[in-house]
Amino acid sequence: MAISENYPLFIGGDWIDKKEKFDVINPATEEVIVQVPNAGPEEMKQAIEAAVRVQPEWADTVASERARILADAAKLMRERIEKLAEIMTIEEGKPLAESRGEIGYAASFLEWFAEEAKRIYGDTIPSNSKDKRILVIKRPVGVTAAITPWNFPAAMITRKIAPAFAAGCTMIVKPSELTPLSALEIAKIFEEVGLPKGVLSIVAGTEPAALTRVLMDDVRVRKISFTGSTPVGKLLMKQAADTMKRVSFELGGHAPFIVFQDADLDEAVSHAVLAKMRGMGEACVAANRFYVQEEVLESFTEKLASRLQAMKVGNGLQEGVSVGPLIEPAAVQKVEDHVQDAVAKGAKLVLGGERSGQNKGYYYPPTLLTNVNEDMKVTFEETFGPVAAILPFSTEEEVIQKANNTRYGLAAYFFTRDVGRLFRLADRLEYGILGANDGLPSTAQAPFGGIKESGLGREGSKYGIEEYLDIKYISIGGISR
Ligand code: SIN
Repeated sequence: MAISENYPLFIGGDWIDKKEKFDVINPATEEVIVQVPNAGPEEMKQAIEAAVRVQPEWADTVASERARILADAAKLMRERIEKLAEIMTIEEGKPLAESRGEIGYAASFLEWFAEEAKRIYGDTIPSNSKDKRILVIKRPVGVTAAITPWNFPAAMITRKIAPAFAAGCTMIVKPSELTPLSALEIAKIFEEVGLPKGVLSIVAGTEPAALTRVLMDDVRVRKISFTGSTPVGKLLMKQAADTMKRVSFELGGHAPFIVFQDADLDEAVSHAVLAKMRGMGEACVAANRFYVQEEVLESFTEKLASRLQAMKVGNGLQEGVSVGPLIEPAAVQKVEDHVQDAVAKGAKLVLGGERSGQNKGYYYPPTLLTNVNEDMKVTFEETFGPVAAILPFSTEEEVIQKANNTRYGLAAYFFTRDVGRLFRLADRLEYGILGANDGLPSTAQAPFGGIKESGLGREGSKYGIEEYLDIKYISIGGISR
């Protein structure tokens, strides 16, 4: 299905067309949906200039007006949910119900930070001299940039622009070239609600490294927020050093999903489906390694297999489909490689494992592996697909060691009805996000982010806005004269 609407780039508050264009592909049909102007370094420089120009005025806009813009944008986003969800499904592949869920999730960041904009408080500190007072104020860090992924094409953008705008920062967004349409729809919304020109730019193009380099080299860009892979995060961190930019990174993950024998097994299975299959497993927080205590191994495996088997694979626009295509052929190849590697090393294929029969589209069915061991790629590389690998364990100590045996530290899930164990695991699991009897802990109210090689900084919550604020203090003398 092609889209008749035009999608120019949004640079400095203007809609910019260009002769050179790139194709946006529907992963369900492999058809070209629409062509988008292919931004290069020149367009990125224009976006930076526009942001630099408007930054002082935007920083001094009263908080209530920045809040109003964010709240109005959230309202429009919710009003347009059907259109936005359809665009998302067409460009990203996730089933329509999930796309609707993501639009709601995206709007929730705008709503949350519309409120936080009004609560950027300072401090007064007792000074060491009766002649002085010390005041702490917070100011926006300035021009910022966001590099966002294709797997959550709307929510990963609002999770960054909402705190940036709330704090008084401008932001240049480089969305994934695989899903630029959701980003450009967000720009339309902000234009309609009266965001000053230049505060937001959306610069999409097929040379991400060249576009990013312009951002990283410009000393006036004071902060970069990136969601994507750990290797790219490491590269950006090195590049940020030259201009001492602030960074926040939400990087890869390899989430363990631990089921103790005392867990409510049906609940654990329902949450396992959520944690594994949301976005076809293409999420940084997706459960990868399912550690199941020996006593409940067989029944958990049977229940999960029957839930996965019942999921309908197909074009996400169709009624009843709960597993859409993966994003691109390389994604399918990676999943296939992980499954073949596991089977070659002795894993048992309980379900799936064969590319689905559709003629067109990048499909891979829900797949369940048992007899898995730690030599298999599925247990240490991000699969980013609908593959659940089950490993048995016998003791709490053993599973904590195994779960932590990774360079990643984004999300971990565990299911138990033992309150003492719940707190022991919360203390000892080396992850930023812990789903205790919860397979979907993500929410605008909570500080999303990882430790170890899964990233730096937090998004969402009262902590998220701090990433966009500089602290200054004023030491005021001459008081007792
Ligand atoms: C991600 O895993 O890429 C983000 C998912 C979320 O916000 O829950």
